[in-house]
Amino acid sequence: MTRRVVVLAAWMLASLLVTTACSIRDRLPGRPTADSQVIPPTKIVDFNGLYASNCAGCHGPDGKGGAAIGLGDPVYLAIADDATIRRVTSDGVPGTAMPAFAQHSGGTLTDDQINVIVGGIRARWAKPDTLRGATAPPYSAQGPGDPKHGATVYSVYCSSCHGSDGRGSKRASSIVDGSFLALVSDQSLRTTVIVGRPDMGAPDWRGGLPGKPMSPDDVTDVVAWLAAQRPQFPGQPYSSAQQNSVARSEQ
Ligand code: HEC
Ligand code: HEC
Repeated sequence: MTRRVVVLAAWMLASLLVTTACSIRDRLPGRPTADSQVIPPTKIVDFNGLYASNCAGCHGPDGKGGAAIGLGDPVYLAIADDATIRRVTSDGVPGTAMPAFAQHSGGTLTDDQINVIVGGIRARWAKPDTLRGATAPPYSAQGPGDPKHGATVYSVYCSSCHGSDGRGSKRASSIVDGSFLALVSDQSLRTTVIVGRPDMGAPDWRGGLPGKPMSPDDVTDVVAWLAAQRPQFPGQPYSSAQQNSVARSEQ
C-alpha cells in the first residue's frame, strides 16, 4: 500500500466515525427532537400528537376504544355533538377517571388545542350516513327514567349476555358491580347502551334484540335501573342502614 492510500483510508475512517457518532448522538433516547426544541407544549396544534399524548391512553389509539369508549366510533359521533365533546374534554366528568383538560379547569390544554381535538375527531372519524336513516335515541336523557320498567327492559335486551341479574355470564361481565357503578356516570352508561362497544363486541341500541331497536324510554329506564344499584358509600361493605347501627353501637 502506498502512503497516499493509507492517509486516504485513515481520513475516510475518521470522517465515518464522526458522522456515525453525530447521528448516534441525535438518536439517543431522551434527546429532544428538533420540533420539540422550538414548540412549547401549549403551541402544539397537530391533532395526531394532541390525541395520542392526551386521549389515546384511555380512549384507545385511532379512537378505537380502550378503558373508555372509542371516540372515533361513528355511531357515537352521530349522537354526540361538538359542544358536548368540547364541554366534557374541557371540564372532565367529576367522580370518574375522565380528567378536565382545559387550563381554566386545571388542565394543560388551551381552548385552541381543545378545538383542534374536537374538530379532528369529527373530521377524521365521523361518517355522515352511518345510521342509514335510523334514528338513534337522543344523547341526553329526557327525564329521570323509571327503574321498575328498566328491570323489564334489562331482562328483554341485556340479560342474554350480562346474565339474568346483571352479574355477568360467559358472554359479558357484570354491570351491577358496585365498584364499576361507583366510577361511571349515568351519561356514560347511557352512551354505552346507545352506541355499544363495537371494539369489545357489545351491541348498540339496535343489537340486543335484532329487529326490535330500544326506544328512547327503554334506554332511559334501563340506565335508571342500573343507577339505582349504585352503592351509596362506594368501597364500604355496609348499606346505609347497617352503617347507622354500626355507628350507634360504637358510641
Ligand atoms: C385517564 C383516562 C382518560 C383520559 C386520558 C381521557 N379520557 Fe375521556 N373519558 C374517560 C372516562 C372514564 C370517561 C367516561 C366518564 C363517565 O363516566 O362519564 C370518558 C368520557 C369522555 C367523553 C364523553 C363520552 C360520552 O359518554 O359522551 C368524551 C367526549 C371524552 N372522554 C373525551 C376525551 C378526550 C378528547 C380526551 C383527550 C383530550 C380524553 N377524553 C382523555 C377517561 C379518559
Ligand atoms: C350480545 C351481547 C350483549 C348484549 C345483548 C348487551 N351487552 Fe353490554 N356488553 C357486552 C360486551 C361483550 C361488553 C364488553 C365486555 C364485558 O363487559 O364483558 C359489554 C359491556 C357493557 C357495559 C360496560 C361498558 C364498560 O364501560 O366497560 C355496560 C354498561 C353494558 N354492556 C350495558 C348493557 C346493557 C344495559 C344492555 C341492555 C340494554 C347490554 N349491555 C346488552 C355484550 C352485550
